Amino acid sequence: MSNLTKTLSSSLFKKYVMAITGFALAAFLLIHMLGNLQVLEGGPHAINAYANFLQTLPWEFLWGFRLGLALCLVIHFATAYLLVIENKKARPQTYAVKKSVVSSAAAKTMIYTGTVILLFAIVHILHYTVLCLNPEFKSLEWVCHSGMYEGKTLHDVYAMVILGFSNTWVALAYIVAMFAIGFHLVHAVSSMFQSVGLRDEQVRYKLNAVAVIYAVVIFGGFSIAPLSVLISKYTPCQILPVKEVVKQYNAKAPKANGKAIFVDYKFLECKKACDKANPAK
Ligand code: HEM
Repeated sequence: MSNLTKTLSSSLFKKYVMAITGFALAAFLLIHMLGNLQVLEGGPHAINAYANFLQTLPWEFLWGFRLGLALCLVIHFATAYLLVIENKKARPQTYAVKKSVVSSAAAKTMIYTGTVILLFAIVHILHYTVLCLNPEFKSLEWVCHSGMYEGKTLHDVYAMVILGFSNTWVALAYIVAMFAIGFHLVHAVSSMFQSVGLRDEQVRYKLNAVAVIYAVVIFGGFSIAPLSVLISKYTPCQILPVKEVVKQYNAKAPKANGKAIFVDYKFLECKKACDKANPAK
């Protein structure tokens, strides 16, 4: 075996690969989560303009980014499975004495939560980017009234997200998947530093705390949208205009015949004016 082959197949090299690709994926999660929070801005403008900005980036940049992200995901998971197989082979078949291995539940379930994330990512891209699970959402359009896209007709991502999560099972499945992501991050973030030799005993507890905070932020931040849709659907508290968007969509979609569907958001302006005139006591 040549030196290069030896290095590439060593566990240490694989751990470095896991740490670097994991870091890129964790950073993407934070950016995507912050972008999604714009759905709470009080109307369609912020999230629709943001999604349009991303979709119209120069294609070299957009596809370079997508390819890089997909490669990170595939390499991260393939390396994880290789490490699991290696660890199983290296472990003796019978134990005279069971060793007390102090490892958290998050660490023990990494391969399972990782598999959930991989499956989630595939379904999610089919759901919201390729739109093959709800092809009718492609017809949702919105005319921008201000800012850099004034007068332009954009994809109505705001209505798409609301309608997608208005299916209770979809919203619940997303929240469960977000929990798996959070649980995965609890162990991933701190062990990432260990893999590249940056975690010693002195900083171990601090890094563990950072990992837990990061995981909670990602879980909470991503769960806000599906949770807000569920609360707005089942309670009088209208965090998002779910009832109105679903009502308009159900009335317009059957007559659309493949033509664009425009949700009329004038009711949001009326609500704002009404809230201003009658401020909460
Ligand atoms: C409740 C949580 C989430 C919501 C509401 C959400 C929403 C969206 C939406 C609306 C798009 C399409 C954007 C567009 O039309 O341009 C999208 C794309 C995407 N999302 Fe999410 N997302 C969530 C969680 C996640 C998570 C946890 C991951 C990673 C595991 C993820 C990975 C992606 C990827 C890779 C894309 C494709 C980006 C591209 O077009 O290049 N999303 N998401």
